[in-house]
This record gives sequence, C-alpha cells and structure tokens, in this order.
Amino acid sequence: MTTVEHRLPPDYRARTLRADVLAGLTATPKTLPPKWFYDAQGSALFEKITELPEYYPTRAERSILRAVAPEVAAESGAQVLVELGSGSSEKTRLLLDALRDRGTLRSYVPVDVSESALVAAGDALAADYPDLAVQAVESDFEESLGLPSPNGDGRGPRLVAFLGSTIGNMVPAQRAAFLSRVRSQLRPGDTFLLGTDLVKDPAILVAAYDDSAGVTADFNKNVLAVLNAELSADFDLDAFEHVAVWDPEREWIEMRLRSTTVQHVLVRDLGLTVTFADGEEMRTEVSAKFRRAGVEAELAAAGFTMRSWWTDSPGQFGLSLSTPA
Ligand code: SAH
Ligand code: TRP
Repeated sequence: MTTVEHRLPPDYRARTLRADVLAGLTATPKTLPPKWFYDAQGSALFEKITELPEYYPTRAERSILRAVAPEVAAESGAQVLVELGSGSSEKTRLLLDALRDRGTLRSYVPVDVSESALVAAGDALAADYPDLAVQAVESDFEESLGLPSPNGDGRGPRLVAFLGSTIGNMVPAQRAAFLSRVRSQLRPGDTFLLGTDLVKDPAILVAAYDDSAGVTADFNKNVLAVLNAELSADFDLDAFEHVAVWDPEREWIEMRLRSTTVQHVLVRDLGLTVTFADGEEMRTEVSAKFRRAGVEAELAAAGFTMRSWWTDSPGQFGLSLSTPA
C-alpha cells in the first residue's frame, strides 16, 4: 500500500478551492482553474481520455519515450526521477525501465494533486518494480514542487519530468513563472524532461478535446461535480454543454462549459449565488499547442538550455531534455 507524503497544509485544498471558485465565478467572463478537475472521478475520466481514438497525445508521447528513454537515461544519469503531475505514471515506466537498465536509479518521486491517482499508480508500480523506492508526494506544483532535498533523499543527479503537455494547461505568464521555479530548484547535473503537444490541423486538435464518445465532455463537467461535493453547490450537470474551440491567435484549445438555459446556481459554502445567461460560456481549461522554437525560447527565458528535441514520426508531439544554463 502506497504511502503519500502531504506537502501542503491540511486546509490547503479547501482554502484554495474556495478562493479560486470565488474569484472565477465572480469574474467576467467566468472561469474555473483546471487543477480542480482531478478528484478520484476526474483522474479516472482522464485515464479514459488517454485511451480514446481521438486523443493522440498520450500515444504519440509514449512512442517517443519508447524510442528515446535509453538516451534520456544516459544523458541524465539520474539517481532520482521526480515527475510533476504524474497521474497514472503509465508512460513513466519506459523511463523507469531505461534508468533501471543503466543501474543508476534509486527512487521515483511522483508528485500530483490527486491522492487517488498517486495511490493507484504507487500500488501498480510496487507490484512491478519491487526494488524501487516510490516516494509519492501530494502537492500543487504551482505552490510547492515537492522535490526531494538535495542533501537527503534527493542527492545525486535528479531528472525532473513534466509529461502529457500539462504545461499547456497554463497560460504563458503561469508557464514562465513555473519554469523559473523549476529552474531555481535544480542544480548542475540535474535535467528537465518536458512533453509538449505541437500545433497541427485544427480539426485533429478539436476532435482530441471533443471526442465522439463524450468522455471529454464528462471530464469537463466533472469540475462542477467537484464543486457540488466540496462546496455544497447545486450545479445541474445536464444544464451545461461541453465546448472545445481552437484559438488560432493564441494557438490553444479552449475548453468551456456553456449554460443551456438561464440559471441561478447556489454555492452554499461561499454564500454565493451565480447567475448564468442562456448560452453563457465559462472557460475551464486551455491546452496550448507548441512549436519547437517557442519551447526552446520559453526554456531559455527560464534559464534552461535545451540539449535534445525529439518528436514522433508524424511530428505530433515534442519531447525535450534540458539542463540548467
Ligand atoms: N502525466 C500524466 C497525467 C497528465 S493529466 C500523463 O501524461 O498522462 C495532468 C495531471 O496533473 C493529473 O494527474 C493532475 O492531477 C495533475 N495536476 C494538475 N494540476 C496540478 C497541480 N497544480 N499540481 C499537481 N498536480 C496537478
Ligand atoms: N494535459 C492534457 C491536455 O491538455 C489535459 C487534458 C486532456 C484535458 N484532455 C482534457 C484537460 C480535456 C481538460 C479537458 O491534453
């Protein structure tokens, strides 16, 4: 049974959820931040998304990892693998295998806001990697990265992985702040592995975020179920529809929830009643798409040097390995 270290104060989740929801639902236009998608149900729905025929990023990134994991292991020489937003840690097995084959790996530190995802991933890894020390950390990586201390468990070269294009779920200013924070906690000898989905035909992009089975719609609406459960809100999930649009200027997919009627929603724990107009759209997520030059520039601005850049053969997804500049 996986034990999870909690890096955040016990009331962190309740406090920040309240603050985020109050700010987001009283803003114009209304927004909700994406980290609240991932309760146990949200993490399970995301795993279903990764298996959808339309959702190519997981398969594309896995195919790159399959090809280059030994190179990543060699370039990093990592003794500790830290993964931010690790989710199911499924693709990570390719890195764990390669690092184990080189004989350098001591421990794996998955970091996620979703405790249920950490426990499920940790239990599955314990069964298949009996010699690996898995030190799961529940944290918000925008607050505390959860990196093991360089003098204790984190000694030796560390590889920090941020896969799944989760970086695309931040807006540019957030990305810059996040990358700078990662950089500030790395030492010479550490490496940073970043997965970024690439700009492509908008029809392919939109389909990946608006699948025909409606799993992404359920995932998107799950944020309303989280608010119902954790803030005693009374959102009617059937009175909202899922919207995914490509913004060609900002080069991101925007996920929204559109109110299908005029409605008043009570968020009891905030003492807040929110009115939605018929057709009003609330932004719940962006998923930015990247180009190699942009990724390299964002990394450089944060103090990284990109050492390697790999894509899958159709060029759908990019994986880069960087070192502190
Ligand atoms: N890396 C996995 C999962 C990607 S989904 C993959 O590539 O398939 C994004 C993951 O990041 C989810 O597991 C979610 O719980 C986690 N996450 C989202 N926002 C987070 C935050 N602010 N801090 C920590 N984890 C976060
Ligand atoms: N990082 C993933 C992505 O942007 C997360 C994700 C996939 C997602 N599908 C989603 C987030 C649907 C919100 C809604 O591809």
